[in-house]
Amino acid sequence: MGQIQLKQVTKSFGEVQVIPPLDLTIEDGEFTVFVGPSGCGKSTLLRLIAGLEDISSGHIEIDGKDATDLVPAKRGLAMVFQSYALYPHMSVRKNIAFPLRMAKMDQAEITRRVESAASVLNLTDYLDRRPGQLSGGQRQRVAIGRAIVREPAAFLFDEPLSNLDAALRVGMRLEISELHKRLETTMIYVTHDQVEAMTMADKIVVLQAGVIEQVGSPLELYRAPRNTFVAGFIGSPKMNLLTGAEAAKYDATTIGIRPEHIDVVEADGAWQGTVGVAEHLGSDTFFHIHNTGLAETITVRAIGDVNLKHGDTIHLTPRAEEIHRFDGQGLRIE
Ligand SMILES: Nc1ncnc2c1ncn2[C@@H]1O[C@H](COP(=O)(O)OP(=O)(O)O)[C@@H](O)[C@H]1O
Ligand SMILES: [Mg+2]
Repeated sequence: MGQIQLKQVTKSFGEVQVIPPLDLTIEDGEFTVFVGPSGCGKSTLLRLIAGLEDISSGHIEIDGKDATDLVPAKRGLAMVFQSYALYPHMSVRKNIAFPLRMAKMDQAEITRRVESAASVLNLTDYLDRRPGQLSGGQRQRVAIGRAIVREPAAFLFDEPLSNLDAALRVGMRLEISELHKRLETTMIYVTHDQVEAMTMADKIVVLQAGVIEQVGSPLELYRAPRNTFVAGFIGSPKMNLLTGAEAAKYDATTIGIRPEHIDVVEADGAWQGTVGVAEHLGSDTFFHIHNTGLAETITVRAIGDVNLKHGDTIHLTPRAEEIHRFDGQGLRIE
């Protein structure tokens, strides 16, 4: 079991309130990602759930029981940090077993849990090595192993992959997703990277300045961002947000159109402009377009390789049915 509920939770450091009253329910077994820019309060929120920080007001319930005043060890949650914090002089086996030894668990049960975790994480052949003899990805797996053996109600991850290089990050992302499918245990995962959020989450919680901007599945956020912040944050390349006369045509203060929803046409497009930078990825081409008469630079994503280069004239048509409209407060107009 691992349902976590935050009820009117706030957090202040001295005079500064970094989390205004916040309500959130994380369902048992769900993979929830907290995403938002640096400093928005993701780690603070996770540490409040873990009990590593005291909340200033409100309640935290785990599986329907008030956990607000419980010390971290009594919450039944396991945190995995960005720095792996492994003991360099101990074997992998001892590192993984460490929390169970501290809890004075029976040796036979420790062995069973360590070997089961090692098998899930493909670490069986490395149990007698020391952390220094492992790759970065393997070390991260040992840190996860140490969490698994505790059989927690939920796993809490704080940017666990940010120390890894890009290729390894993609690999570990998949491993953690697969681990979740296998264990079916609640996971809360903090990242500033919206691609990690989109690819891993059942449910994404978008935060800005301690406030939840939107909660939803990756595709709900992609298809119907509730405001211009979420619209600009979710999706890569970013959604184009246009103001002024172009938005007024659609009876909105701001309109949004994703780069993949603008078609490059031969002639007679809605917009005509000049290619600034063309990024040829092979699978896609990203064009950054100037001189359209719009106030903003337009980003367009074309499928495959499109043979246009810096300085070329380009004709564009946004797909009308894909236009998002926002009002003067930046809120979505349905
Ligand atoms: N121990 C602390 N004392 C004072 N301010 C803090 C402390 N921890 C975090 N903060 C502040 O709270 C805000 C949220 O920080 P944090 O949760 O670390 O953000 P994130 O993880 O999203 O980058 C920031 O403005 C940060 O400076
Ligand atoms: Mg953080």
